Amino acid sequence: MATNPEKVVLVTGAGRGIGAATAIRLAREGWKLVLADVDSAALDGVAKPANGLSVVCDVGNEDDVQRLVDTSLGQLGRIDAIVSNAGINPHGSLSELDLEAWNRVLAVNLTASFLLARAAERALRAANGAMVLISSTRAHMSEPDTLAYSASKGGLVALTHALAMTLAPDVRVNCISPGWIDTGKSGPLTPEDHAQHPVGRVGRTEDVAAAVAYLLSEGAGFVTGAELIVDGGMTRKMIYV
Ligand SMILES: NC(=O)c1ccc[n+]([C@@H]2O[C@H](COP(=O)([O-])OP(=O)(O)OC[C@H]3O[C@@H](n4cnc5c(N)ncnc54)[C@H](O)[C@@H]3O)[C@@H](O)[C@H]2O)c1
Repeated sequence: MATNPEKVVLVTGAGRGIGAATAIRLAREGWKLVLADVDSAALDGVAKPANGLSVVCDVGNEDDVQRLVDTSLGQLGRIDAIVSNAGINPHGSLSELDLEAWNRVLAVNLTASFLLARAAERALRAANGAMVLISSTRAHMSEPDTLAYSASKGGLVALTHALAMTLAPDVRVNCISPGWIDTGKSGPLTPEDHAQHPVGRVGRTEDVAAAVAYLLSEGAGFVTGAELIVDGGMTRKMIYV
């Protein structure tokens, strides 16, 4: 059922994975979609069936983010919500991680949310809108060689409360930290992959999309500056062996 007949949401990294599932979920709830991705073919595959406006852009680039916001406002006249989801996760050892690669991960994963908030501030305030930033449980725990990614995701949790205080009382800002969400990239999942999770299964992109839908809804009207962990309980699981 359409619950948001006039509202416009901008979703980045919408071409596949969590961003695509979020776009599909929000379209079903009646949001008008502006979908952004670097991958134009993937973006079209999601935007066309969801009747969304697609904008090919690199969210790590300041001019591209401004163009994305300007295009949204030019074509649809308002922005009620932003889901800052696009992210990259290149693995690499400390000695091999050069400054350019470090800066690129921070630009796409962290700086993009700042650029989006700044470019859309007036529109979001006018709409009494909301932002959801997609962080990761890697903001709190790590495997080796995920340095820039973990740092960027920790930064997003802090940026969430900083933006929530800065944009209050007009705009609510929250983040979601997903755990392991199957987007098909890890190959076939094993029974052990599922069983290690307290809920008994690996996460689905729809699990995160549902959390986004909640945080953008009126039901979350008293929630701002929060981090919602969607990880099947993994970060609460004590492991001794
Ligand atoms: N899948 C997981 O297990 C998981 C867990 C925790 C957090 N996350 C986070 O969720 C978000 C989505 O992850 P996913 O697994 O769906 O990723 P994915 O790789 O399946 O999709 C990411 C999308 O973002 C796009 N993208 C990449 N760089 C971009 C850029 N510079 N500008 C615009 N678009 C760009 C890609 O083209 C792709 O369509 C990311 O921020 C990721 O860090 C994912």
